[in-house]
Amino acid sequence: MASKASQRLLRVVEALGVQPGDRVLEIGCGHGVAVSLVCDRLTTGRVVAVDRSAKMVAAATERNRPWIDAGRAQIRAGSFEDLDFGQERFDRIFAVHVVAVAREPGLSIARGLLTPGGVLSLFDQTSPGSPEIVKSDFRETAPGVSGTVTL
Ligand SMILES: C[S@@+](CC[C@H](N)C(=O)[O-])C[C@H]1O[C@@H](n2cnc3c(N)ncnc32)[C@H](O)[C@@H]1O
Repeated sequence: MASKASQRLLRVVEALGVQPGDRVLEIGCGHGVAVSLVCDRLTTGRVVAVDRSAKMVAAATERNRPWIDAGRAQIRAGSFEDLDFGQERFDRIFAVHVVAVAREPGLSIARGLLTPGGVLSLFDQTSPGSPEIVKSDFRETAPGVSGTVTL
């Protein structure tokens, strides 16, 4: 049976609606559980996951080794605000419980990494210990909160 963390992140990834060819960025991937779940949904797409904690990057890398070797996933160490993504842009960017993405300058930096029409989705728990997770969508074409969904 999947752990509570896996069930929570499964709901998150289901809500993202990842398409097989999507380029996806996860900010603050922690142990990399959501990365694995996203990879399950990709065929030609790929996911880049970043975390500023070296310990979390090591754990996420170990968990996703087959996906990394297949070229489907890349795990990068560092704060997303400081990392150089070059020309790479993402159709879907998401973060679960990462405060820095929800406020400036992180919000603008994340938006700047979207493809035109790409979607930034932030997930948070409504209160400590609550089973509910709140999703907010930010679209580059219509900046601002376009929707909040309780999963
Ligand atoms: C509360 S944990 C959530 C981990 C995972 N998303 C989950 O829900 O299980 C937040 C994670 O985001 C990372 N993080 C926080 N701020 C960050 C930033 N500015 N850039 C990259 N990673 C960050 C932390 O190191 C930590 O692993």
